[in-house]
Amino acid sequence: MVLRFFPQKEKYTPEKSQLTFDPKQAIPKHIAIIMDGNGRWAKNRRLPRVAGHKEGMETVKKITKHANRLGVKVLTLYAFSTENWKRPDDEVNFLMQLPVDFFDTFVPELIEENVQVHVMGYEQYLPAHTQDAVKRAIEQTATNDGLVLNFALNYGSRAEILTAVKGIATEVQNNHLAVEEIDETVMGNHLMTGFLPEDLRDPELVIRTSGEERISNFLLWQLAYSELFFTKALWPDFDGEHLETAIADFQKRNRRFGGLDKEEKK
Ligand code: IPE
Ligand code: IPE
Ligand code: MG
Repeated sequence: MVLRFFPQKEKYTPEKSQLTFDPKQAIPKHIAIIMDGNGRWAKNRRLPRVAGHKEGMETVKKITKHANRLGVKVLTLYAFSTENWKRPDDEVNFLMQLPVDFFDTFVPELIEENVQVHVMGYEQYLPAHTQDAVKRAIEQTATNDGLVLNFALNYGSRAEILTAVKGIATEVQNNHLAVEEIDETVMGNHLMTGFLPEDLRDPELVIRTSGEERISNFLLWQLAYSELFFTKALWPDFDGEHLETAIADFQKRNRRFGGLDKEEKK
């Protein structure tokens, strides 16, 4: 028998429908999502893993529209990591075809919804057809000024930080920048979220689906003070209600940024 001297607290993860968000309270301006669990969704249905990715693409469409209607300003979606090349060729090829299908079918709606597409990652290593689809979607939505739909595609945060450091070092070497001038803003400008206005670069809320509770090389600099929300829902099952539950949970958090609560300061 295992004796427990300290009763273990049940970990509380609010799931769908348990919380509703308050439209009068602030909605996170930048939400980032680690879209995980496509493979398991497919496996549960005895389908090939890629069927999960296809279904996950439908979730992206639904969540983009939902986030836009809620007034979210930036939605960053982790679609393919620099580590995902380790997967079998068939799966990687399927994942590289997905943006082509996604944008072919969804750009007209994105235009209607005033959504602006952006991609961050090492795009130059993507196959030509994927790069073309991405470029087209960016061009076609460039004049939209609503939600920024920011796909992290062939993205990895350690690589991103290394690229930023090399960029800064080069500026110093070329006498365009003094070492003393390197601050958080300079670093932020060199990261892949540098295209966003400074107050929107860091996600306020990061959601990871599928029950995994790790960051998997996502936005390591930017999420220094992000609120993290983990849900067991697999990405193809994630819906607007799940999103609202995550927002409701966010609204209950007490964000101190290392300081004190308002009442405690008195
Ligand atoms: C997330 O789903 C999509 C990508 C990482 C491309 P997974 O494919 O990781 O699904 P699981 O984690 O195997 O269930
Ligand atoms: C993270 O999911 C990457 C994306 C969602 C694109 P993974 O499924 O690749 O992460 P690990 O391997 O479980 O950490
Ligand atoms: Mg996974």
